[in-house]
Amino acid sequence: MKRAKITIVGAGNVGASCAFWAASKELGDIVLLDIPDFADKTKGKALDLAQCGPVERFDANITGTSDYAETAGSDVVVVTAGIPRKPGMSRDDLIQTNVKIVGSVSEQIAKHSPEAVCIIVSNPLDAMVYTAWKKTGFPTQRIVGQAGCLDIARYRTFIAMELDCSVEDISALLMGGHGDDMVPLPRYTSVAGIPVTQLIPEARLTEIIDRAKMGGGELVKLMGTSAYYAPAAGTIQMVEAIVKDKRRILPCAAFCDSEYGVGGYFVGVPCMLGKNGVEKVIEVEFTPAEKDLFASSVSHVKELVGLAESVLTQ
Ligand code: LAC
Repeated sequence: MKRAKITIVGAGNVGASCAFWAASKELGDIVLLDIPDFADKTKGKALDLAQCGPVERFDANITGTSDYAETAGSDVVVVTAGIPRKPGMSRDDLIQTNVKIVGSVSEQIAKHSPEAVCIIVSNPLDAMVYTAWKKTGFPTQRIVGQAGCLDIARYRTFIAMELDCSVEDISALLMGGHGDDMVPLPRYTSVAGIPVTQLIPEARLTEIIDRAKMGGGELVKLMGTSAYYAPAAGTIQMVEAIVKDKRRILPCAAFCDSEYGVGGYFVGVPCMLGKNGVEKVIEVEFTPAEKDLFASSVSHVKELVGLAESVLTQ
């Protein structure tokens, strides 16, 4: 059976960590790409990672390059390219620079891997997914953003810390944009099937939810730059679902038109991910309060997309 070909654009902290998780899970051959200025560094990271194979027992061709020709015919392309946040910056502050970077990367992807499923990770996420869609011209099913997998990983971690139980038993749902107004849904959060609301008092759960919402900023403050291990792990969870056609249901930024009445934007919703990309968007019921929170998060996404569009037409 042919191995999947996975290209990761951007060999910084997030991209290199994605390559690491993808290799260690033996998901396919990996091409790690960055700009020509970083060509040697990128080749070095790929070679260093390839040399883990005998120890970690994975077989994969791992290439480091700045030449898109080497990415040709990829099954999945992960886009991590762009500048990360510095302390004091919001994700939205990155928009001017990152629209241009993600726009030009997307054109290259469309040229060299016209059948790929693209997973966008660059920030501000919701606007970058839109940019990639516009610039690749791909069907919406093959453009998806990584945010929810990371955000619920944070939310699940904090719940497990609170209950001193295994993270594996926490199942959660989080929707909306990848901003501080993302919408964790306690009503759809359970611990081994037990509603979390029966295990954690409401006031404490609200504190946990707030920490999860601000989880990216907490790490920027501590590290002086954006997080990378968990963003990469969340991304590779999506890659695995696609290359193994697992049909996993994960929160991802997917195109919603009539779905949730969004009207043609990419926002975080529960999706089924399989070999074709987004196989299906799943619609859940909201209470009036949840509906308001989701609507306010979506309106922020729409504002960001408006900004991205103005950069794209400059
Ligand atoms: C975060 C960045 C990667 O949430 O968006 O950590």
